[in-house]
Amino acid sequence: MPKGRILSGMQPTGKLHLGNLEGALHNWVQLQDEYEMFSVIVDWHSLTTAYEDTSDIKSNIRELAIDYMSAGLDPERCTIFVQSHVKEHAELHLLFSMLTPVPWLERVPTYKEKIQELKMESVNYGFLGYPVLQAADILIYKADTVPVGRDQLPHLELAREIARRFNSLYGEIFPLPQAKLTKFALLPGIDGRKMSKSYGNHICMADDSEDIKRKIKVMFTDPTKIYKGDPGHPDDCPVYAFHLVYSSDETAEIKANCESGALGCVDCKNRLSENLLEALAPIQVRRREFESDPKKIDEILAEGANRARKVAQKTMEEVREAMHI
Ligand code: TRP
Repeated sequence: MPKGRILSGMQPTGKLHLGNLEGALHNWVQLQDEYEMFSVIVDWHSLTTAYEDTSDIKSNIRELAIDYMSAGLDPERCTIFVQSHVKEHAELHLLFSMLTPVPWLERVPTYKEKIQELKMESVNYGFLGYPVLQAADILIYKADTVPVGRDQLPHLELAREIARRFNSLYGEIFPLPQAKLTKFALLPGIDGRKMSKSYGNHICMADDSEDIKRKIKVMFTDPTKIYKGDPGHPDDCPVYAFHLVYSSDETAEIKANCESGALGCVDCKNRLSENLLEALAPIQVRRREFESDPKKIDEILAEGANRARKVAQKTMEEVREAMHI
């Protein structure tokens, strides 16, 4: 059986946090052996909202590449590249924009949500076309599988609509890509809400041990457990949610001792800090290696773009021929 092909992508908006690591990256690392995998850093997508100040974009791209590889994405087994290095994405986006009705785009839930969230006064052309560009990212590699969170399902649906429309107008070129839902975000933020950079409640993969200990120290716990001897409710406690991920063989004991009151929150947090630091240690060692050799990152990304471009160029030849242009 030939391997299926995956296209995965993230915007370069700064260092990744543990929610990204546990919710997405770890999955991708597993999938790189089961599938042929292309992993794109979508810098043009980040311009659909953050186009005014672009001074950080290059360093954000490098940070994301380092996060990818320190988590275990291997440039030998997975093609890691930057969207803007493969100009063919822009050409396919343009051609798709001809056959995409504007109401399809206005119906996408993330469209209205983002407008409200960012209090946009008027909407730019590129922002409206965000999902068209995403469809081009996916279809230019004829990827059949796209690992995403639930919020991205409407974008995948739109990519299939565009593929169907293209195929029926010009001939069957594109497969209909399916979403592969990544596991739910397992980790809350340190304040108990969803972990998100915009809430400022996140722990970065790259945070140093002092930062991590400090963040765990101030982490919210079960509000009904005030003194050490009080019985706790681990299932309502963000610290316990972290234990479930990072203290696997100790969780039953931690749960029992929290519930009985034998384990206080300070000790419980110290144990978490220790286990979390141990889990992150290999990732951080790899990060430091990459940080000490920025030229190597650029070489890996250039090599990734070369590999990706070959596939993208071939698809574009078929597309132009099908469209008689
Ligand atoms: N919209 C995706 C997100 O915000 C990022 C993205 C762009 C993407 N192009 C993609 C994800 C292609 C998967 C495939 O997470």
